[in-house]
Amino acid sequence: MASGIAHELNQPLTAILSQSQASLHLLKSEPLKRDALLGALESNVLQSKRAGEILTRLRNWTKRDATVVQLADLNQIIRGVVDLMSMDLKERNIVLQLKLDTQRLLSKCDPVQIEQVIFNLIRNSTEAIEDQKDDIRRIAVESRVLEGQNIIQISDSGCGIASETLPRLFEPFHSTKENGMGLGLSLSESILQRFDGNLTLNNQSSGGACATVSLPSASPVNGKK
Ligand SMILES: Nc1ncnc2c1ncn2[C@@H]1O[C@H](COP(=O)(O)OP(=O)(O)OP(=O)(O)O)[C@@H](O)[C@H]1O
Ligand SMILES: [Mg+2]
Repeated sequence: MASGIAHELNQPLTAILSQSQASLHLLKSEPLKRDALLGALESNVLQSKRAGEILTRLRNWTKRDATVVQLADLNQIIRGVVDLMSMDLKERNIVLQLKLDTQRLLSKCDPVQIEQVIFNLIRNSTEAIEDQKDDIRRIAVESRVLEGQNIIQISDSGCGIASETLPRLFEPFHSTKENGMGLGLSLSESILQRFDGNLTLNNQSSGGACATVSLPSASPVNGKK
């Protein structure tokens, strides 16, 4: 992850350096090439913004100090995120189907961070559906307990994961989207690993992708610490 970040930040920094050197050169030349200078400075502003955005996003996600581990009900977290996204989904004509286990799904985790994971996965699904011309615009969010693990599955009727992307899903900054940063899945994976959880993604035979989150189940008694 660190080498990916270094690489990603190196690109705008290299561009800023070369444009600044060109600007200095332009300033010393006669007559002054005002348009070329303007172009170089505009490029510097864009590149600096890009580097700043990368750092802000990483800082927000990796605030380890702010981690608050508690006994949380994953069903409650899912309902909260779905509520938050319901307007956006409606506007995009996407039907979200909830199939939550009837019992509480308790895990020891930071509910705010798990919210971010679920939010990112549903957002990926909406973005994959946006790329489709299909009439079926559906996301299903399911939860259940299986062999001591709380499982959340988010499946969609989107375009599916491109075969070149499948082995690079968790690689930071790998994105197939014009404005994507390629950070959602790698950061979600690292959050889940903090709580001994796991994230996998695959394509469904019926089309679309399916993301599976697992977190160890905690009993209410063990959790009361
Ligand atoms: N539900 C999905 N359907 C199809 N492809 C997906 C899905 N989820 C992820 N992908 C693919 O995996 C890539 C990486 O996803 P990730 O969430 O890490 O980054 P991103 O969505 O491109 O950018 P960011 O989340 O940082 O805004 C995406 O660019 C996309 O190609
Ligand atoms: Mg994403």
